[in-house]
Amino acid sequence: MELVLENINKKYNDCYAVKNVNVSLKTGVHALLGANGSGKTTLMKMICGILKGEGEVHFDDIDLKNEYDNYASHLGYMPQHFGYYPHYTVKEFLEYMCIIKNLSPQYSQKRIETLVKQLNLEDKMNTKMKKLSGGMLKRVGIIQALLNEPDILILDEPTAGLDPKERIIFRNLIASLSSTAIILLSTHIVSDIETIADDILIMKEGEIIMHDNYDELLKVVEGKVWELELPTQEGLAIMAQKRVVKSHNRHQSIHMRIVSDQKPHILAQLVNPDLDDLYLYYFEEEPNDETFDH
Ligand SMILES: Nc1ncnc2c1ncn2[C@@H]1O[C@H](COP(=O)(O)OP(=O)(O)OP(=O)(O)O)[C@@H](O)[C@H]1O
Ligand SMILES: [Mg+2]
Repeated sequence: MELVLENINKKYNDCYAVKNVNVSLKTGVHALLGANGSGKTTLMKMICGILKGEGEVHFDDIDLKNEYDNYASHLGYMPQHFGYYPHYTVKEFLEYMCIIKNLSPQYSQKRIETLVKQLNLEDKMNTKMKKLSGGMLKRVGIIQALLNEPDILILDEPTAGLDPKERIIFRNLIASLSSTAIILLSTHIVSDIETIADDILIMKEGEIIMHDNYDELLKVVEGKVWELELPTQEGLAIMAQKRVVKSHNRHQSIHMRIVSDQKPHILAQLVNPDLDDLYLYYFEEEPNDETFDH
């Protein structure tokens, strides 16, 4: 199975929201990582055929434009902000989505039952959509995307607003689907994808600037990530000039993690990079006037 995107472009008022995207995705989990406004949602909507622009999208030999119904039958999409009828119960909403997706009633009942169990929403089936918490609503969003057992699963920030337990349920679910579907998920939460993504696409100003597996991507920042502890005043001076991934105030000193091409201080020690470091390397200008406290 392969999802191929060729020369995808989308402009809003002379400004590219998505620019020259050429990507081929096979079965597995692909993470789309990028800052706010980098074009993730726009690209995903184009893959789902709900936003038109330039370029070609095809799944194996099924072309999105020419055979949309066929293409859509292989697709599951969870929008970043999904609309729903507030007065529907969870059960009614999911049944309604099955009808839209043209699924048979017998199949639908079984499928809803399985998914609701998997995502721990059994006791919310008769709750109205408007009464659900953000995390529960996300889970309903994930369920509706999975109703037709999609070969292509597009998830726009599926973990935003989930609590740690819900995140783990989600991660396990995605891992269980990763050998049978092409999954593209966008996120800001780096730790969500470290463990589950087979490869990572980094999007910046509409372009995919990198597409590789975790280990290869980290090579970019190898030898550039430092840890350092300095007296508070001296530490603050360094932090004002460098990209600081995290900092921690200790008694009269500051412990810092810094991404820098050069050794930032004689006492700095090189450490192993992670995806947060890479993200900062691409998305923060140096010098940096913001610090991230995790
Ligand atoms: N309907 C629209 N009209 C005009 N500009 C738009 C429209 N939708 C998106 N844009 C612009 O396109 C760019 C990409 O937006 P998009 O929503 O795809 O980014 P994103 O990566 O999903 O951001 P976020 O992380 O905040 O969800 C932004 O500059 C945005 O302002
Ligand atoms: Mg978005």
